[in-house]
Amino acid sequence: MMQARIERLGHHGDGIAPGPVFVPRALPGELVEGVLEGDRIEVLRILEPSQDRVRPPCRHYKSCGGCALQHASDAFVSAWKLDVVRTALVAQGMEAISAGIETSPPHSRRRAVLSARRTKAGALVGFHTPKSEVITVIPDCQLLHPDLIEALPALEDLVALGGSRKGTLRLTVALTQNGPDVAVTGGKPLDPTLQMELAAIAGARGFARLTWEGELVAQAAPPTQRFGVADVKPPPGAFLQATAEGEAALLRAVRSAVGNAAKVVDLFAGSGTFSLPLALGAEVHAVEGEAAMLEALNHGWRGATGLKRVTTEARDLYLRPLLPDELNRFDAIVIDPPRAGAEAQMREIARSSVRRVAAVSCNPVSFSRDARLLVEAGFRLADLVVIDQFRWSTHVELAAQFHR
Ligand SMILES: C[S@@+](CC[C@H](N)C(=O)[O-])C[C@H]1O[C@@H](n2cnc3c(N)ncnc32)[C@H](O)[C@@H]1O
Repeated sequence: MMQARIERLGHHGDGIAPGPVFVPRALPGELVEGVLEGDRIEVLRILEPSQDRVRPPCRHYKSCGGCALQHASDAFVSAWKLDVVRTALVAQGMEAISAGIETSPPHSRRRAVLSARRTKAGALVGFHTPKSEVITVIPDCQLLHPDLIEALPALEDLVALGGSRKGTLRLTVALTQNGPDVAVTGGKPLDPTLQMELAAIAGARGFARLTWEGELVAQAAPPTQRFGVADVKPPPGAFLQATAEGEAALLRAVRSAVGNAAKVVDLFAGSGTFSLPLALGAEVHAVEGEAAMLEALNHGWRGATGLKRVTTEARDLYLRPLLPDELNRFDAIVIDPPRAGAEAQMREIARSSVRRVAAVSCNPVSFSRDARLLVEAGFRLADLVVIDQFRWSTHVELAAQFHR
């Protein structure tokens, strides 16, 4: 048995005591007592709790891996996320710009990736328990939108039918204007009987679309997302901002960065989350690696009225970033890369003569590395807001604007 005083919170949400020793779900300043296993203390008692410690709002929190920071106050989590961004910027030699934070409310997650397994009695659908293969079922989840919670029994029916007892299934579920859009991988292979039975469940439970290992099983209604005035049907399992509130906050930040630009290029455009709303006021060129997402974007644009021209280009922006000549046709750039960031593309933006950049990122470390390239090329980091679509998690997302 040993005691330890927590000094700071690590990137995965563990408390860190001198050593370093990692203490799950402990907060800075706390004195804890527990058993040391390797470099971790499993806490038996918190001897001196932090003032930031709160009672977790969710009854599943103890076993569920869906959330990591429910034992901390909202104010603490916000300050911590802002500090993660500041630290990443300072590590790249940039100024710690004072940023705001917009946190999505509880019950707002409209897209989630759930784990599932068939059992003797039926099925388990939920989130993994931390560091284990156990799945915690989450009927009272505080994160998920009520319509996703309502879909859980139907998802269990799918898994009871199409899951094997050995493997874990992965269920990507997104709410659409016409019901849940469900994409399943890791289940039994489809045969005509299974296909019919799965389709019957999807139909009876009001799913807009069900795909199984990428194959369409049922589509009762178009799985529509509304981006601005356009209705878009993204491909199965496609990226979608995790909450409607987060998407709106990101769009506000992007709009503010783009200003009254007449021509905008949207890099890593997905299915048009930013391109289509921006097309109300600007011509937009959307560039993205997944051709199917661009097809959905293009179809949405063609079906909408009142939008300026939107063009699309399927292109791997890691291997073939847009070059300065191509970028210089535009007045503003929107860039929203995956976690790895967009170093190659940022180097070309730095060499271009474009003066306005809206950068969205889900990784403050790769963002700061890329931002430095812009700052070294004469851009000013004019504004930054942390947009927390993953409340109670350690994810940190942000939107920034650069001018020169
Ligand atoms: C964070 S998502 C943003 C999507 C979109 N901006 C949105 O808000 O919905 C990143 C996008 O980058 C795309 N992507 C990933 N790797 C890529 C690459 N090498 N080249 C081009 N696009 C890529 C993904 O398909 C995904 O749509």
